[in-house]
Amino acid sequence: MRTQVAIIGAGPAGLVLSHLLYLEGIDSVVLERRDREYVERRVRAGVLEQGTVDLLRKMGVAERLDREGLVHRGIILRVEGEDHRIALSDLTGGGVITVYGQQEVVKDLIKARLETGGQILFEVEDVSLHDINTSEPVVRFRHGGKQHELRCDVIAGCDGSHGVSRPSIPAGVLTTYERVYPFAWLGILAAAPPSTDELIYAYHERGFALHSLRSPQISRLYIQVRPDEDIARWPDERIWEELHIRLAREGWSLTEGPVLEKGITTMRSFLVEPMQYGRLFLAGDAAHIVPATGAKGLNLAVADVKVLAEALVSWFRTGSTDLLERYSDTCLRRVWRAEYFSWWMTSMLHQNWDADPFERRLQLAQLRYVCSSRAAATSLAENYVGFALV
Ligand code: FAD
Ligand code: DHB
Repeated sequence: MRTQVAIIGAGPAGLVLSHLLYLEGIDSVVLERRDREYVERRVRAGVLEQGTVDLLRKMGVAERLDREGLVHRGIILRVEGEDHRIALSDLTGGGVITVYGQQEVVKDLIKARLETGGQILFEVEDVSLHDINTSEPVVRFRHGGKQHELRCDVIAGCDGSHGVSRPSIPAGVLTTYERVYPFAWLGILAAAPPSTDELIYAYHERGFALHSLRSPQISRLYIQVRPDEDIARWPDERIWEELHIRLAREGWSLTEGPVLEKGITTMRSFLVEPMQYGRLFLAGDAAHIVPATGAKGLNLAVADVKVLAEALVSWFRTGSTDLLERYSDTCLRRVWRAEYFSWWMTSMLHQNWDADPFERRLQLAQLRYVCSSRAAATSLAENYVGFALV
């Protein structure tokens, strides 16, 4: 088997890349470890930046997103029971975010890829990368009970934080940066009409809570828990009880409903430099992780592959390696900005249960500043809605 670009992973990064390349007449094959149903059901992020939505539109895959996505012009910071609205649009000259589940983006992309003759191989096993540092890299894998070899010009490692691509790079090439936080998020998807029109980020002495949504009938809610927390210790009643306490505000109430899904996500900042080795280019979670508080993970993945697709188009068309050589640097500027913002939001809004009172006072001072200063709120808003894609 031969293709121009072998793409490992059918998450947002791999699928957007494959479709962008298709639109430019470049051939790719996507190799995915899980089955189609699994990737289409995996509940993760939900906040799309304007740049992400614009790109999906330009790619012709936003018909359902435009119909069902919920456009938000502000978010609420609920600090110890009091609301402060960050007017995203007013503060950024019209910027908005769109709430649309990651698994819906993935569904739309898979459909578009398959309708246009795209090759996605689901349930591949034992993927391994070879000859990455030559002009003829090879990917070996098992599929349908048989061993296969995919020869290509370039490999795109879009296989998330636990994939095979990053570990295929020889030791000593990458520099790793990491920060592990002393907390995690327990998230639920609930068949309950959202109790809010805009996302609520709540600072509370018992821990952070977030009220998000997916549709007029479905709420998405998170609470801060310890990183080693056992989900078995959190029956639905306990989760609702905690949400009621942390999200409490006078004159406001939280509507409950059947819990459709629940899971725990750890909070981590992680990235490697550079995002390339030979003919292997890393994109999305394969190269960097942000703690979820800034809602940046999915958006960064899309931003990476836009840069990669343009660089590959230029290379295949003209033979020029200029853009490919700059791929890592171009992406990392945006990635580090998002790492900073995600770290900052995370540090400001969570309870570090081991911290001393000094740290708590600093948090509250910063929150009060963001809630009362237009300049501080503008900074939060422009980072949250996201910067233009390059
Ligand atoms: P992924 O979506 O991880 O896609 C990688 C794909 O590669 C997967 O389909 C995987 O099955 C496949 N794969 C892995 N290994 C192999 C292999 N060896 N061979 C073949 N295929 C392989 N971000 C937010 O902004 N807000 C959130 O609330 C949020 N919640 C999250 C919850 C969880 C549990 C996780 C893991 C992430 C969450 N994120 C969140 C982050 C966001 O979802 C990711 O940043 C986004 O999915 C990145 O897209 P990606 O395409 O780079 O990677
Ligand atoms: C959602 C996830 C986030 O990480 C976030 O900051 C806001 C919303 C969500 O899943 O809706």
